[in-house]
Amino acid sequence: MSTDRQTGTGATLDVDHSDAAYRTWLKEAVRKVQADANRSADTHLLLFPLPEDWGIDLYLKDESTHPTGSLKHRLARSLFLYGLCNGWIRPDRPVIEASSGSTAVSEAYFAKLIGVPFVAVMPRTTSTEKIRLIEFHGGRCHFVDDSRRMYEESARLAARTGGHYMDQFTYAERATDWRGNNNIAESIFRQLRLERYPEPSWIVATAGTGGTSATLARYVHYMQYDTRVCVADPDNSCFFEGWTTGDPDVSCDRGSRIEGIGRPRMEPSFVPGAIDRMMKVPDAASVAAVRALERAVGRKAGGSTGTGLWSALKIVAEMVAAGERGSVVTLLCDPGDRYLDKYYSDAWLAEQGLDIEPYTAAIESLLRTGTWPH
Ligand SMILES: Cc1ncc(COP(=O)(O)O)c(C=O)c1O
Repeated sequence: MSTDRQTGTGATLDVDHSDAAYRTWLKEAVRKVQADANRSADTHLLLFPLPEDWGIDLYLKDESTHPTGSLKHRLARSLFLYGLCNGWIRPDRPVIEASSGSTAVSEAYFAKLIGVPFVAVMPRTTSTEKIRLIEFHGGRCHFVDDSRRMYEESARLAARTGGHYMDQFTYAERATDWRGNNNIAESIFRQLRLERYPEPSWIVATAGTGGTSATLARYVHYMQYDTRVCVADPDNSCFFEGWTTGDPDVSCDRGSRIEGIGRPRMEPSFVPGAIDRMMKVPDAASVAAVRALERAVGRKAGGSTGTGLWSALKIVAEMVAAGERGSVVTLLCDPGDRYLDKYYSDAWLAEQGLDIEPYTAAIESLLRTGTWPH
């Protein structure tokens, strides 16, 4: 860093913060993140089988096949590029993040790629598999008992260590290129091009930061499609209430059981005005749906995939009832092997007092008869 000041009559003030070593490091870091994207293939659009005569196609955008196993790989890449290009991420300084786990797994990967330390501030209830993955990628886990304290604890750690608090909940919506640049929305529409209904009637997303739903909805509006975007919200989350009442200050006092989604406050990256519809989904319905996914498609997924799939199936039932044809897309957010001791464990369900039977029966009835039981 060089500083050259001349003062006095007619003098120039000249402060130069450029530093050749830092600029070399920065270029190399950006190249490594871009090269990771260049090495990676797009994620698949899977078909969820429905009776042919309904004339409705249901798809899952399978985000579990990213190198770090979730849709958060896209966000982590965007946040690292944003932080690097803004001059916020510096050599040898830690990157710190508040996360329920998936984002931290992906960010630990990118931190290792560019050679900076990484600390994840997470709820103590985070699944053991996610903790293992963060540590596998060289990250350190720092736990809080109350998930509402993640934000201030991350800011405190960043201030104490001179690191950068990434703050996905604030920056997710603006770090992502929502007009295109192969974002999740552009990729979905490109993959639907040869399908019988290339412009879906509905896209269903879930919200953690709200960034994915914001990107999908903004892209649809920007491209002038007729597609509508629905956000499915689990128990113990206030996005639904905030969206329906218009109150940005709503809060709830218990953490979500569906890892990755459902927040105790309206996160700044959630863009309510862009969203067409919201559905509140009971946690038992999310688990029933994710187990139905395995029976139908042969894939295990995380609870948030079940939350979205439940809503998508409800929309399919509405379309069948209305005699409407078309396509519906939802997301397979991350793989189920991260949650074998939760959503795939009957002991966990019993411990949580969750009875999935009525919801399983509803899904089976829909798939058999085309109607959604009241
Ligand atoms: C497993 C999982 N599904 C869905 C989401 C929602 O994504 P977004 O943060 O873009 O709202 C997250 C976010 O953390 C997640 O971890």
